[in-house]
Amino acid sequence: MTLLADPATYARGVPHAEFTRRRVADPVSWVEEPELIRHGDTGVRRHRGTGYWAVTTHAGVVEASRDPGTFSSAEKGAFLADPRTQADLERNRRLLVNMDDPAHARLRRTVSAAFTPRAVEPLRASVRAHADALVARVVRAGEVDAVAELAAELPLLVLADLLGMPYADRGLLFGWSNNLVGFDDPRYGGGQVEVYRRTFAEAFAYARELFAGRRRDPGDDLISRLVLAETDGRRLSDAELCQLWLLLVIAGNETTRHLVSGSLEALIDHPGERDRLVADPSLVPSAVEELLRWVTPIMQFRRTARRDTVLCGRRIAAGDKVILYYISANRDAAVFPDPDRLDLGRAPNPHLAFGTGPHFCLGAHLARLEAGELLSALLPHLPALRRAGPAERMRSTFMNAIVRLPVRFDTAAH
Ligand code: HEM
Repeated sequence: MTLLADPATYARGVPHAEFTRRRVADPVSWVEEPELIRHGDTGVRRHRGTGYWAVTTHAGVVEASRDPGTFSSAEKGAFLADPRTQADLERNRRLLVNMDDPAHARLRRTVSAAFTPRAVEPLRASVRAHADALVARVVRAGEVDAVAELAAELPLLVLADLLGMPYADRGLLFGWSNNLVGFDDPRYGGGQVEVYRRTFAEAFAYARELFAGRRRDPGDDLISRLVLAETDGRRLSDAELCQLWLLLVIAGNETTRHLVSGSLEALIDHPGERDRLVADPSLVPSAVEELLRWVTPIMQFRRTARRDTVLCGRRIAAGDKVILYYISANRDAAVFPDPDRLDLGRAPNPHLAFGTGPHFCLGAHLARLEAGELLSALLPHLPALRRAGPAERMRSTFMNAIVRLPVRFDTAAH
């Protein structure tokens, strides 16, 4: 029996067959959580979650996402793991993804202007320049880990531009977000609560210095805009700014990285589709959408039922945990004909990789821009791209993540 709630499952690959079985047999089905181990100050702690309703169809995920009055992000937060204490829950609620209205709408209004297509478009030239330089470097190197050298690098460079940070500090962003997102993976946090705490402390100390610098000497970067922005007549506090900053660091970094590495793997494994794209670069925009559907870098987010309700015919009680599986919704045959086929020209493509409803991803335009520019820069070299060793996947129930993808450019091949 595949355990959807066990991080170890995903180290072997996304359990698509299990999702398909559930979509067909029981679109909103109960999942027991396994016992997970955490290492805290007081020694090893075993923890078992409450169990949850897995929402696996496109219709189910859309319905719950668009009804925040019933399916709350703030009640217990938007992450699968239950907050351990009330204090943990209160802390989590300072993060945009873990808010409901009116707090959510208020904070989102302050940040969203920085992420509209108009605000993001001016970044295109610098994103393309970063992509060209990275591609030239890996092609020259011949054989590389595509995660470290390509997929991780582009979002870090773009984030450094966006947040007005020196490029030399991008390694810090990389380490912090690995420790927080890879909490269940022994290569990163490995369930060590201390690593988790230390990471927050270090990241926030760095951020506070950044804010102080921008208040003294504002530029035209996002941080300068955020420290000066006013909502309802007041500026954001340092604590609010820290949470927002960390969310951007993680959301803008891990997700795009996993989209790129998953896309490279998909293109290597589907040479017919790769050749179709190389022959017709006008397919890049639809290819980006299809790769978003195919990879679905964030596999799920959580909601908590605020009241007794019914979803896809299933009775859900007030307080129940509900997990919205975008990764499954994106393979729903009711919406995507032949869903297990990669079709880079697929249209329409109403995938849910960025979620839907009031929490729809703020960084969607930026992520699309980065993926599109990188794909365009890579096009002439794609026919030569080969695996140079087995891919390694992250132990995570949250991110569909490849952590190592050895590749080589087989120049003799084209
Ligand atoms: C391929 C890349 C990305 C994917 C797949 C992705 C996915 C998602 C998803 C599924 C949500 C919905 C959360 C929910 O419903 O609870 C979300 C929210 C969010 N994303 Fe992204 N994201 C990506 C890139 C980015 C980037 C580049 C940024 C910023 C630089 C970003 C910033 C955010 C923020 C701030 C939210 C919270 C919005 C809210 O709660 O109102 N994301 N993202």
